[in-house]
Amino acid sequence: MIQLIKGFKDVLPGEIEVWQTIERAAKETFENFGFQEIRLPIVEKSELFSRSIGDTTDIVEKEMYTFEDGRRGHVTLRPEATASVVRSYIQHKMYAKDPVRKFYTIGPMFRRERPQKGRYRQFYQIDAEVFGIDSPYLDAQLIFMLASLLERLKAKDVKAHINSLGCPCCRPNFQKALKELLDAKKEHLCENCLRRSEKNPLRVLDCKVPACREAVVGAPSILDHLCDDCSEHFDTVKRVLTENGVEYEVNKNLVRGLDYYTRTAFEVLTTSLGAQNAVAGGGRYDGLVKALGGPEVPAIGFAIGFDRLAEIVAMQQTIEANGPTLYIAPLGEKATEAAAHWTMQLAARGISCETDFGGRSLKSHMKRADKLKAAHVLMVGDDELEKGMATLRNMTTRDQRDLPLDGLVETLAEQFK
Ligand code: HAM
Repeated sequence: MIQLIKGFKDVLPGEIEVWQTIERAAKETFENFGFQEIRLPIVEKSELFSRSIGDTTDIVEKEMYTFEDGRRGHVTLRPEATASVVRSYIQHKMYAKDPVRKFYTIGPMFRRERPQKGRYRQFYQIDAEVFGIDSPYLDAQLIFMLASLLERLKAKDVKAHINSLGCPCCRPNFQKALKELLDAKKEHLCENCLRRSEKNPLRVLDCKVPACREAVVGAPSILDHLCDDCSEHFDTVKRVLTENGVEYEVNKNLVRGLDYYTRTAFEVLTTSLGAQNAVAGGGRYDGLVKALGGPEVPAIGFAIGFDRLAEIVAMQQTIEANGPTLYIAPLGEKATEAAAHWTMQLAARGISCETDFGGRSLKSHMKRADKLKAAHVLMVGDDELEKGMATLRNMTTRDQRDLPLDGLVETLAEQFK
């Protein structure tokens, strides 16, 4: 038997109800905050990701699914959505009419990471991006929006962690100070960090290897190196979050695994999922639109790890599929044909309706209706068909009443709408 590939998974009925609940809540929440949906291709030119996420990141260095596509050169299964949203914003000159745009997109992403619980090679993100606003109020509003979605989904044990990564004006000073410390601790760093300390020293702060963690204890804080503008920006973000009741923690070592960030960076961490504890991550990326060939437009966004959020929600509450509103239990051949007709007509009118064509006994029909969690059962045999009557049972109250078959579809459609 052919099995699915490790790191990939099926989301089956039983689990999908949680996914649907999350997706509905996300769409509603985002739309309340003025976001529009955007759908983008899964495959893009590889260069889009190397230029935006950064050549020295784990994602670009070792995790991308890249292949040659004839004349198109190298193409990649998107490892994240931000680069594509920016590409689309620039390509369609969306900034021309109004640079302020708010988008969300939901879909699969691909990273060739080592699979483990909460870490997949195909995973899903709920991604939100805003262009054209540099105000710190927006940073706070976006984190608030994320927190309010999580609250709406009753997700517990989640908390926002925030930091500022500065801007091209102040970050180099911090990088220099950090590099000095890393040079002094070279012999304690893992091989990856030795390389990172040359090209991208900030990433060392994020290393999970215990010796590297130890080495950066007492490292300079980026927050002490922010320029006045970045510092004021971050203070406002924190103040507005506090004023609006968002719980957060400042984490000076939060650096994110992608290179495009400037100023506010944040993650929502959970204590419910073990090692893969980031449920969402994001931040400002004021330089990316320009770096990818667009005008100078500030931007900020985040992505929720859909799989991880679904795991948390499923762990913390039970969400089950609704059963059909009506199950029609026909007894006899003619009644079965009539049931087929009524089921089609009712379902087409928006009433969820099920039947069974297998010639079951009444007892067996009732068992099936129970299993499907039907709210009502319509019982009709060939005899009743001749008399023009059927019996409707409410499966919760067990009340029963007779219904004339004349105008049955209209009567039921009216009753259940
Ligand atoms: P990221 O932190 O790489 O950011 O991913 C966001 C979230 O996607 C993570 O917090 C995690 O929940 C989920 N995730 C990432 N990798 C995996 C995986 N292998 N398996 C399961 N879940 C995973 C970004 O992707 C940025 N594009 C976010 C952003 C949007 N920044 C600005 N705008």
